[in-house]
Amino acid sequence: MQYLDSAYFKYKGNNLYCEGVPVSKIAEEYGTPVYIYSRNFFIDSYRKFNNAFKGVRHSVFFACKSNFNLSVIKTFADQGCGVDVNSEGELLRALKAGVKPEKIILTGVGKTEREIMLGLEYDVLMIKAESPQEIELINSTAASMNKTAPVAIRVNPDVDAQTHPYISTGLAENKFGIEAKTALEIFSDYRSYKNIRFTGIDMHIGSQITKVEPFAAAVEKLAELFLQLKSMGVPLEHFDMGGGIGVTYNSEKTFELEELAGRLFPTFNKLGCDIFFEPGRYLTANGGILAAQVLYTKKNHDKNFIIIDGAMTDLIRPSIYGAYHHIQPVVLNGANELIADIVGPVCESGDFLAKNRELIECKHGDYLAVMSAGAYGMVMASNYNSRRRPAEVLVDGDSCRLIRSRETFDHLMFDEEKLL
Ligand code: LLP
Repeated sequence: MQYLDSAYFKYKGNNLYCEGVPVSKIAEEYGTPVYIYSRNFFIDSYRKFNNAFKGVRHSVFFACKSNFNLSVIKTFADQGCGVDVNSEGELLRALKAGVKPEKIILTGVGKTEREIMLGLEYDVLMIKAESPQEIELINSTAASMNKTAPVAIRVNPDVDAQTHPYISTGLAENKFGIEAKTALEIFSDYRSYKNIRFTGIDMHIGSQITKVEPFAAAVEKLAELFLQLKSMGVPLEHFDMGGGIGVTYNSEKTFELEELAGRLFPTFNKLGCDIFFEPGRYLTANGGILAAQVLYTKKNHDKNFIIIDGAMTDLIRPSIYGAYHHIQPVVLNGANELIADIVGPVCESGDFLAKNRELIECKHGDYLAVMSAGAYGMVMASNYNSRRRPAEVLVDGDSCRLIRSRETFDHLMFDEEKLL
């Protein structure tokens, strides 16, 4: 079998390390399942991203839906990164992590009036609007607060991102954004929205996109609209190309950021405005693992199963997208390879982390690392079967610290006992 090895998660001798700390030591200290993140992966990825686009005036807003732990948000914010938030909860997280409101973008296809009010109250940098009705609501809400709302319109470019249908967002059939024709009408009429300052055009065509072409097609399409609006005198300040940059989970071929930048720069230069990016997965996916412990191994009807203490409730991506996450031993001590399903304790056949996977034979008590789990892992975890969500640990060089404790059963039951 193959082992994923990077500068951040690496075998030293037989032991998998996150930076300078053995994964088995963290698993023993904090229990399993546990999410383990490499702080330096986050920082280096942010720097790489910035570096690739340094040829244009730009700002990066970390899409914290991919990993919203306060210490992770703060790691990015400390580097000067902005944050893209998709809900009141994410807004509060960003603020608690110390992100300045002028570095926050408020996104969301279904924002409530309260969320719009909060965005205005805190004076976030920009509120993204995704429907004509929402624009009306933003305008009237801002009026009632005696404010002018900075608004970008998310335009649906009707471009195929060539990714999993559940995470494709830029097609006409998807719920996201406003079609270009309608956006043009709204923008042209910008003076009639007394309490809105239209700041830009936004797009986000999907996630885990592994080709440059869909980005180029969408950017070129919307750049035309941007230039048309500019020539009409609409004073737009930025073009937000969203996130969606794919990463390697297995052997997928993805593009280098420089390739994407090289392809987009000529168009960006024509726009002559600030370019915004909202990467999530690129900044976090390969900076995290989920460490779990083997409970049992068994063979049923010639099929091998490895039952671990991590489940779909901890990492749901394999169950809902058929997503691939590499799984490898935390300590290399077996020799024989086998093909097995790696499954959790949840009462569903859909509860698997891997199917028909080649793995070194392992036994009760061994630790396994589910790789590339830093994005859309913990944030999508649930309490099904009344399971407590995992602890999270952040490694920085030779030291590590708990950044979220494992939930307690009191957290899970909340006030139910009082309400019995
Ligand atoms: N901006 C907007 C408006 C978004 O909706 C998203 C992700 C991003 C930025 C960040 O996209 P990224 O760079 O991470 O691809 N749960 C799925 C992914 C859902 C993505 C939702 N939107 C998964 O586990 O693959």
